[in-house]
Amino acid sequence: MRVTVIGAGYVGLVTSACFADVGNDVVCIDTDSKKIERLNHGEIPLREPGLDVIVARNSTAGRLKFSTSYHDAVAHASLIFIAVGTPSSEDGSADLSGVLSCAHALGQKIVRDTLVVIKSTVPVGTNDQVLAALQKEIQQCGANVQVRTASNPEFLKEGAAVDDFMRPDRIIVGVNDANSTDVLRALYLPFNRNRDRLFIMDVRSAEFTKYAANAMLALRISFMNEMANIADRLGVDIEEVRYGIGADPRIGPNFLYAGVGFGGSCFPKDLRALVRLADSIGESALLLRSSIQVNERQRGILFEKIKVFFGGNIQGKTIALWGLAFKANTDDMREAPSITLVDLLTRFGASVRAYDPAAIDNARQIFKTTQGITYTASAREACDGADVLAVVTEWLEFRSPDFEWLAATLTHKALFDGRNLYNPAFVRANGLQYFGVGRGHSN
Ligand code: UDX
Repeated sequence: MRVTVIGAGYVGLVTSACFADVGNDVVCIDTDSKKIERLNHGEIPLREPGLDVIVARNSTAGRLKFSTSYHDAVAHASLIFIAVGTPSSEDGSADLSGVLSCAHALGQKIVRDTLVVIKSTVPVGTNDQVLAALQKEIQQCGANVQVRTASNPEFLKEGAAVDDFMRPDRIIVGVNDANSTDVLRALYLPFNRNRDRLFIMDVRSAEFTKYAANAMLALRISFMNEMANIADRLGVDIEEVRYGIGADPRIGPNFLYAGVGFGGSCFPKDLRALVRLADSIGESALLLRSSIQVNERQRGILFEKIKVFFGGNIQGKTIALWGLAFKANTDDMREAPSITLVDLLTRFGASVRAYDPAAIDNARQIFKTTQGITYTASAREACDGADVLAVVTEWLEFRSPDFEWLAATLTHKALFDGRNLYNPAFVRANGLQYFGVGRGHSN
């Protein structure tokens, strides 16, 4: 099939590459000419495992092309995906200006019957707005064409996005008509072969499904973080509790990790947008608000523990920091818990020696004006001259460090484990003090 994808960001690029990889003829459009230029030279502007290979393979085969032109977008296909960002506005609501400007630009160019599918995460009702914008432009141009819209939210985890796309656990499709169902069913058939994972529903329900899924997952994390904070004071190990409750099939073992709070480009933004959406219709969204509050507190949890460890004064202390990205296998720093930790540590007079396998370039941008952070080329180097070590991202290479060496290197011989990666007893046996999140030893 011929497919156009608007947006060469994280979602748009993965979508384009994966559609091309099963034989579709894909054009991916972005207004950022630098980004398109890089892509046309075979450079991938973001880090996502496996994506570079798929983009290269399909570009070489001529099935994946990049362009900045809306003319190319509509000329190429009558099936067009919108996958542009919907960042937070100042009041927390989703900023739809990118999505709507796509709709206007497309509407001005459309020359034949077209199905426009919204993949961006958008509040309920956005499809109607997009359709209205398209129709207004089409009318003004006097074109005699039919345009339809559909909703097809993504559920891609960063660091596993290609796999999530190729082997989805569900494909949510919100449609207004049978014809759109047929087109999208055919498009997704290669990803939907051994079991039907396609859920066809009305457009508004599809739009909401995305928000509800992210809200549920965020609630699970905030719930576990709250349990962890209670556990800490009661001498309970939240990791044992995680196994215990996760064995109940109604709860399940996934996404129950206590830690430094959730970050990333989706959960915080989508939760805020859902709260604003609820506000706008007079609903109070108490659970969602609490989940945000718990998360905000949790982002400061490691700082609190470090501060208490130093008797309330961290002035002049040096903290080795392992991990900057909001989670492992990505260079993404958006809303990363490390940002809160670095801000607090440096504001209260400590210096930070930070190492991350992928996110240092992005971190340099974020901490441009921060005094007191330096970056190192290895995890070990970050510990040189440091008083204590804090781990905030669960990169594989941090999982099994040389604890004896750490005990010999860190002046204050203490490890703050923001991801509960280590066995407290083993760490202690190697001469370090250990502080995790909810490991039953609140200081
Ligand atoms: C998320 C959703 O999973 C995905 O379906 C959606 O489309 C986009 O948002 P992503 O932001 O890539 O994906 O990250 P995810 O792996 O879901 O983690 C989000 C945050 O929660 C990270 O900061 C992670 O460290 C944290 N987390 C996750 C926990 O603190 N504990 C957990 O048990 C799981």
